[in-house]
Formats: sequence, C-alpha cells, structure tokens
Amino acid sequence: MFYIMITQLLCFVLLSLSIQCKVLPKYVTKCSIGDADKFSHCVLNNAKAVFPLIVNGDKSHKIPNLNPLFIEKLDLNSSPSLNLTLHNVSLEGLPTVDFTSVKFIKDEQKFVFELFFDYLKFKSFYIVNGKILVLPISGSGNGFIDFQKAKILFSCNMKKIQSKKGEVIRIENPNVETNFGNVVMYLDNLFNGKKVLGDEINKFLNENWKDVITEFQVLVTGTLSSIFSSIMGSFLNDLKFDAAFDDAE
Ligand SMILES: *[C@@H]1O[C@H](CO)[C@@H](O)[C@H](O)[C@H]1NC(C)=O
Ligand SMILES: *[C@@H]1O[C@H](CO)[C@@H](O)[C@H](O)[C@H]1NC(C)=O
Repeated sequence: MFYIMITQLLCFVLLSLSIQCKVLPKYVTKCSIGDADKFSHCVLNNAKAVFPLIVNGDKSHKIPNLNPLFIEKLDLNSSPSLNLTLHNVSLEGLPTVDFTSVKFIKDEQKFVFELFFDYLKFKSFYIVNGKILVLPISGSGNGFIDFQKAKILFSCNMKKIQSKKGEVIRIENPNVETNFGNVVMYLDNLFNGKKVLGDEINKFLNENWKDVITEFQVLVTGTLSSIFSSIMGSFLNDLKFDAAFDDAE
C-alpha cells in the first residue's frame, strides 16, 4: 500500500515536471516565426539536420526506428472489391529522404513539406482477396511493393488549443499527396502457388502500375502521414508557442 502510494506520487511528480518543462529537443533549432519565408527556411534546415539524427529512433520522443520501420499489420480496404492485409511489414527506404522545400502558410498556420524518396519498399507477408481493376486475385505469401522516385507533399496544421497551462500547440490534419516515378511489386505464391497464373498477374500488376497504385498508394499516404505527424507532434504538441518559436505572437 505504502509502496503503491510512493510510486503514484513519484509518477505524479515526474509527470508534472515533464509537462511543465516541455521544451524542444536539444537537436532542434528554435526558429523565429515572425517572417513566414525565413521561418520556412529555418524549418527546412531543421528537417534536413534532424532527420538523420532520429532515423534510428529516439525513445525519449517515442520515435521508432525508421531504418527500417517495422509495422505489425497494415489493413487495406481501399475498395469494396479488394481486401489486402500485410503482416510483419518492414518499410525500407525512409533514410533516402531528401527534403526539397518547406512552405509555412501563415494565414492557415499550415506547413507544406515537399520530400523526395529514392524508394519506399514495403516487404511483408501478405493476404489478398478480391479484384484489382477487373482481374480476380487471391493468395497469401511473401511479397513486396516498391514505390520508386517518390515525390511527396506532406502538410499539416498547427492549432492553438487551451490546456491547463494556457495556450499550447497541437499538430492536426496531416495529409499526404504522392507522385511516383515507378512502382515495382511481386507477390509470391498467388493462387495457392499456381505459378503460371501468379506470374501472369504479377506481370500485369507491374505493367499497369499507374492504374494499380490507386489501390495500393494508401500504404504510402497512410504510413507517411502517420510517421511525419507523430514526429512533428512529439516535438511540438503541448508546447507553448514561445517555447517552440522565437517572436511568437
Ligand atoms: C510475424 O512475425 C512473428 C515473429 O517473427 C511471427 O510469430 C508471426 O507468425 C508472423 N506473422 C505472420 C502473419 O507471418
Ligand atoms: C473484404 O472484407 C470484408 C470484411 O471482412 C468482407 O465483408 C468482404 O466480403 C471482403 N471482400 C472481399 C472481396 O473479399
């Protein structure tokens, strides 16, 4: 009983300390938000400098290892005619990111990041059932989908919310738009291992990747929007504006 009370007290103290003292991580440069162009430039420099430092994870900010990123399960119900589930997903290619530009739109308090990945390769055990375009497809096994030369627009809004300690930041509305140079995929063991049929479907999928990716690109949009919004959120959420930025109004 006594022990439990002590632990609870300790937790409470630690919790309140961490809430009161929340600051930017040491490796993030504090930017001045007064001028939108200079601010955008500063955020871009931060992104370029910080990403390599967190790519292998940062436990204190709940950032997982991104090299590769492991995801236990991804369920894709992008259309009523196709169910695809990926298990034990290893997402490779995140370290190939190049941050090409950042734009901060002051009126909307909106960040727009333009990124480029050399590739984003999802390797996993898959289970598929349904139709892609008009072709029936079913099976389970090992497979990969490799989105190459991926141009990504990631945007999110920065809101002010009221908390116990006043006005703090909340990152919201993450959104991702994509443009790929090529997509290469292979699903092993389709149709219970009927190799000729399986190979034919794989050939079809690769030859028609531009039409096929409308079914699959949510893998990229969903995963990246969750990665980038949680990284930004882990730095900025619950921070007071003047703790996050200089010249905060
Ligand atoms: C995922 O990986 C775990 C650990 O290696 C394994 O036990 C599990 O069977 C795998 N799941 C699937 C669906 O392959
Ligand atoms: C997809 O899954 C849902 C829910 O489990 C099911 O109702 C539906 O029939 C499935 N569709 C196909 C094409 O397998």
